[in-house]
This record gives sequence, C-alpha cells and structure tokens, in this order.
Amino acid sequence: MATKLVAPSILSADFANLEREIRSISEAGADWVHVDVMDGHFVPNITIGIPVVKSLKKISPLPLDVHLMIEAPERYIADFIKAGSDYLTIHVESTRDPASVLFKIRELGAKAGITLRPGTPVESVLPLLPLCDLVLVMTVEPGFGGQSFMHDQVFKIDRLRQEIVTKSLQCLIEVDGGINHDTAALCKNADVFVAGSYVFGQDYRTAISKLKNL
Ligand code: DX5
Ligand code: ZN
Repeated sequence: MATKLVAPSILSADFANLEREIRSISEAGADWVHVDVMDGHFVPNITIGIPVVKSLKKISPLPLDVHLMIEAPERYIADFIKAGSDYLTIHVESTRDPASVLFKIRELGAKAGITLRPGTPVESVLPLLPLCDLVLVMTVEPGFGGQSFMHDQVFKIDRLRQEIVTKSLQCLIEVDGGINHDTAALCKNADVFVAGSYVFGQDYRTAISKLKNL
C-alpha cells in the first residue's frame, strides 16, 4: 500500500496551546493540519472560525485542511480563503448549489473539497468530482471527535476510487471519523487519514507513523 497522508484534527488538541501542538505534529511527521469548523446549526456543536484560521496560518509549517460544517458556506468561503485555508471542504447537504461554491473556492485560489454525511448517498457527490481536489468520506456523524468508526461507510471510499480511476480525475480521497490503526487499514482506497483522538491521545510520532505505514 502506498504511503498515506495524515491530517491530525486539532479538535482533539490542547486549544490553549495550539501553536505548540501544531509544531509537535509537524515534527512528528504530519502532512496537513485538519481544522474542524462548526456553527451550531449544521451540526450540534460550535468550534472555531475565521480569526483562528488566520492565526494558525501564521505559525503552521503545514497546509491547513479546513472542514466546514456550516450552513450556507458560500457566505464565508472568501473569508476562510483569505485567512489562509489551503484546502476548503464543504458539505454537499449544506448548500443549494454545491457546484458553484466549489467553482468559487478554486477561483479564489484554494483547493476545493466536497464531503457528505453518513446518511447521504455517495451518488450525490459523483457529478461534483471534476470540480474537486479532495473528496472527504465521513465515517462518523459530523459534530464531535472521539466517536466510533462506521464500517458501513467504507464502500463509499471504494466507489469513489472506482469513479476517479474510470474518469481519470485528479481528486484525493480523505476519510474522517474514528480513524485509528485498525480502522485505517480498512480504508485502503483512501489517500488522506484525518485522525483526532487517536493522534492526540498518545505519542504523536508513533500514531502518525502507524497511519502512514499500514
Ligand atoms: C467530526 C470531525 C472530525 C473529528 C475526528 O465532525 O470532522 O475531524 O475531529 O475526530 P476522531 O478522529 O477523534 O474521530
Ligand atoms: Zn473533520
């Protein structure tokens, strides 16, 4: 299996010491920083927003992979990109016209990502893949870290790989939710592993290298 990219989710980091945490995961071999943005409407939790992304950009040696779990993301994509998001991922359920939002993200100079809730059919994102640099498969219900991996979502990763290969698309597949050494091994068609509680709950270097070298 090819080496994977690892994007630790700072939702499980020490929020009082984010600079130190990001430097630590970078030194431990992380590839991206995964930033979970929640608005209390699209998901029943509130986390961080534009000013924090802007501050993280100043200190992060790694690309910022920003996962928007917000209603009507078109209202804020320009601000998130200006703040320094490298990848900006929206939920297909969160907006009436996901294609135009993805197009706009690219136009504004960021990499565009699409994602879907566990209950959303994978077919809903297939027509959008040509507009995307990243497709994220959620393997938990979005909203909180530390939940259990939903095995019944793995087929979506395989279906997306088939679509990407068949149509010769340039789109990375990322998986997010309940990822650890065992569950990551089930996602052989993913390119990028997001992991929050698994990475921040132990020695960072050990966790990241286990995910990278399954
Ligand atoms: C959940 C977030 C995830 C979360 C992952 O809504 O999108 O990125 O932080 O946390 P773990 O890895 O603990 O499931
Ligand atoms: Zn996430």
